Order: sequence, then C-alpha cells, then structure tokens
Amino acid sequence: MANASLHAARDAKNDEFYTRIEDINEEMNYYEDKFKDKIVFCNCDDPKWSNFWKYFHMNFEYLGLKKLITTHYEPDDIQSYKIEYTGGNDEDFEDGVITPLSQNGDFRSPECLALLDESDIVVTNPPFSLFREYINVLVQHNKQFLIIGSFNNITYKDVFPLIKDNKVWLGCRSLSREMYFDIPDERKKWLVENKKEGSAYKIVNGVVMGRLASACWFTNLDHKSRHNFIDTTYRYAKKEELYPDLYPTYDEYNAININRMAEIPMDYEGIMGVPVTFLGKFNPEQFEIIGLDRYVEDNPHYGHRFKVNGKETYARILIRRKVGD
Ligand SMILES: C[S@@+](CC[C@H](N)C(=O)[O-])C[C@H]1O[C@@H](n2cnc3c(N)ncnc32)[C@H](O)[C@@H]1O
Repeated sequence: MANASLHAARDAKNDEFYTRIEDINEEMNYYEDKFKDKIVFCNCDDPKWSNFWKYFHMNFEYLGLKKLITTHYEPDDIQSYKIEYTGGNDEDFEDGVITPLSQNGDFRSPECLALLDESDIVVTNPPFSLFREYINVLVQHNKQFLIIGSFNNITYKDVFPLIKDNKVWLGCRSLSREMYFDIPDERKKWLVENKKEGSAYKIVNGVVMGRLASACWFTNLDHKSRHNFIDTTYRYAKKEELYPDLYPTYDEYNAININRMAEIPMDYEGIMGVPVTFLGKFNPEQFEIIGLDRYVEDNPHYGHRFKVNGKETYARILIRRKVGD
C-alpha cells in the first residue's frame, strides 16, 4: 500500500471512536445556560446509538432546547438517515421513526449543510481525519459549537489562525486528563493483540476502550475558565539575581523562551514563546496571541521552529501580556 493510502486507512480507523456519555455530560455542565431555545445539530452521529443524541434527547427539557437534529453518515454513498426531535413524546424514536436523507449524510453534503444553516449549535465528535475541514465549515457557516478533536490540530496552519483570532478556544476539560472512547469490536481485538495496555487502549471497568491522550474539546461558546487569570510569581526583573538560566532570547527572533507555564514572568511586556499547552489556560483579557513560532510572519526561517543557542525548541505559541494586566 502506498504511504498515502496507509495514512488514510489509519485515519479511518481512528475516526471510529465513540464518545462516552459521562464525558459529554461533564463538559456540557459548563455551557448549560447557552442552550435555551436553541436548535442543536449532531452531524456525525448515528441517532440509533450516539451518546450525543442520547445526551440531548435525555436533557431536552432540562436544557430548554427548541429542536435536536442528528444525522448519520454512510461512507459508500448509500442513502442515509436523520432524526429530528422537538421534545415531548419519546415514542417516535423508540419506535424507530427515522427520516431518510436523500444523500449519504456527509457533513459537507448540501442536505447536511442546509440542516447546519437551520441549527444554532453543533455538538459532536467529528471524524479526526477531517477535523480541520470540519471546524472551518462550522466557522464559515457562523455556527456555535462544542466539538472534540485532537490537541495536535492546534498547530496546523488552517486551525491556528482561528485560535489566534479568538474564533475558537479550548473547552473546560483539563488537557492533562486523557480521554477514552468506545471502539468497534474488531478494533478492540486488534489493539489487545498488537498494542500495550496504556498506550493505544485501556481497560476501563472490564471494557477495552480506545485511548487518545491528545483528545480535547474545542468550542466558541464562552465559559468561566477562560476568564481565570493565570497567576505567576516570577519576575523578569529578578532574572539576573534569581534565575539567570531562564528567559533566553531566541537566536533570530526577538522574544524570550519559556519552558514552563508557571515561569511566565508577571512583569515582561515583550513577546514570550510559551508551550502550546498554554492554550488550556489562555485568558484573552490577560494575554494576546501573536502567532505560532513556525508561521509567524517575521520568522526569518518561516516554517521552522525557533532556536536557542543553536538548538531548536519545542513548538511555541507567541504571546504578549495585555496592557494594564
Ligand atoms: C470520532 S467518530 C464519533 C462518532 C460520534 N460522534 C461519537 O462521538 O460517538 C466520527 C464519526 O464520524 C463519521 N464520519 C466520517 N466521515 C464523515 C463525514 N464526511 N460526514 C459525517 N460523518 C462522518 C464516522 O463514521 C464516525 O462514526
């Protein structure tokens, strides 16, 4: 198999990761007040079993939803189906009354885009292999959303500008907590036979679950934790006296390098390069994002990371403290 097809096969396997209802429930706790009278669309979800469908169906009245729409995708251009629920009598779904779609349920199909335009908030875990295209479709259609993706997507050229421009931010779940997903049986079998527990899978309550250490929530719904100020005790003014090894300047870029969030100095007004996990604590009232090391316009080696004393650093986000903070 050519390299590209190998990657496509691997990505397709990773697409079949099903979200646990407790993870949806936990994250949704932070946004409950944003759903009143809204139309929620889960556009990568089989209404016969998706936990996103189950969560919103179960909490329809509690959240005060106006409508819930869920569409299922059939990969081989087979006609697919959707369910639309407006509350009240649950019998419809239990009796299996599901409406056919005329297309295959691809989130990019004209039929699904029309449903997207009708909806207010999209909540789902989309296919990992299409994440970049997926999130850009939501932004282009001016939708609010709460979706799962891989943290690694952040550094992609077509995702980072959304973060930089405050059109997308991370959800509330801590980046240091791994996420586990239900996976198809044959995938479970393959993982147990070929991988070590704790790497690609974990047994949770006797069930083999797919493990994605980098999975996290992406959203454009406001939440409390992005207004928390990062507390730092370090001072750049004390560098020479207390920590002469901290805050080296990059070889060819006018910014200081910071390796640990806790070391962000409270008194530095220039540009600082911080680990990408900073985004898990980013408060737009405290800092502004200048760019990503590799793709910042005035990087003399555009496309490459910065160096300190000739040694390349890990990926860095360039930030600056906001005036008055
Ligand atoms: C990561 S899984 C998550 C499924 C479900 N949202 C959940 O969280 O349990 C992504 C799902 O998207 C479906 N999918 C793949 N390509 C799609 C497309 N182009 N449009 C819509 N759904 C797609 C896959 O079949 C897969 O079930």
